[in-house]
Amino acid sequence: MTDPQAAVPRPHIVGIGGTTRAGSSTERLVRAVLAECEGLGARTSMFPGPELLAMPHYNPDDPERSEGQRAMVAAVREAQGFVIGTPGYHGSVSGLVKNAIDLIEDTRTDPRVYLDGCPVGQIVSAAGWQATGVTLSALRDIIHSLRGWPTPIGIALNSMVQRPFDAAGELVDEGLATATRLQAAQIMAHVSGTRLHRDAEALAARA
Ligand SMILES: Cc1cc2nc3c(=O)[nH]c(=O)nc-3n(C[C@H](O)[C@H](O)[C@H](O)COP(=O)(O)O)c2cc1C
Repeated sequence: MTDPQAAVPRPHIVGIGGTTRAGSSTERLVRAVLAECEGLGARTSMFPGPELLAMPHYNPDDPERSEGQRAMVAAVREAQGFVIGTPGYHGSVSGLVKNAIDLIEDTRTDPRVYLDGCPVGQIVSAAGWQATGVTLSALRDIIHSLRGWPTPIGIALNSMVQRPFDAAGELVDEGLATATRLQAAQIMAHVSGTRLHRDAEALAARA
């Protein structure tokens, strides 16, 4: 008997974010959610802070794109879900991460515009609860403007009071580990629901 699931491609979940520092807490938390998504059957790609740093300022009037910019836009185009992570800088999303988000404008005339219909997990790291809260809210507004669906679970790390990773880089904070699992489950459930919906629509169109 053939397995009906065998032909179903693994969903592609793309992570974007971090600070200029490789292995920042923001980047590690994005990677932690991606790892949970992989455990639920996804394949993943990551665009961490240092790679975002190598990207020029987004210029909609200049069609020239760097290799890194082209790679990110290609990944965005064929992804079904996202995790975006940012530090809180002066009460909002950092310029580094916003520059990468602005690059998604290159998909404005695609059949699937921006992040349309895709679940998007959010990660924020800041040196205080006030900045984590307002930055998470700002990031959700940005995701809405890109037609994405922010997951109900947003993850906030207060780097002044939480030390979530051990020396080996393992996520050892129980609460944050639970949040990464829940966020990944919400991303993957949304992707499955969207796929079922599209399959049902395709069947109905053929009937
Ligand atoms: C330019 C700049 C602006 C910042 N602004 C804020 C801020 O407004 N509020 C805050 O709580 N932390 C602020 N921070 C601290 C970072 O959000 C904090 O260190 C964060 O945990 C860094 O994330 P990382 O561990 O991923 O590097 C700022 C840091 C920098 C470098």
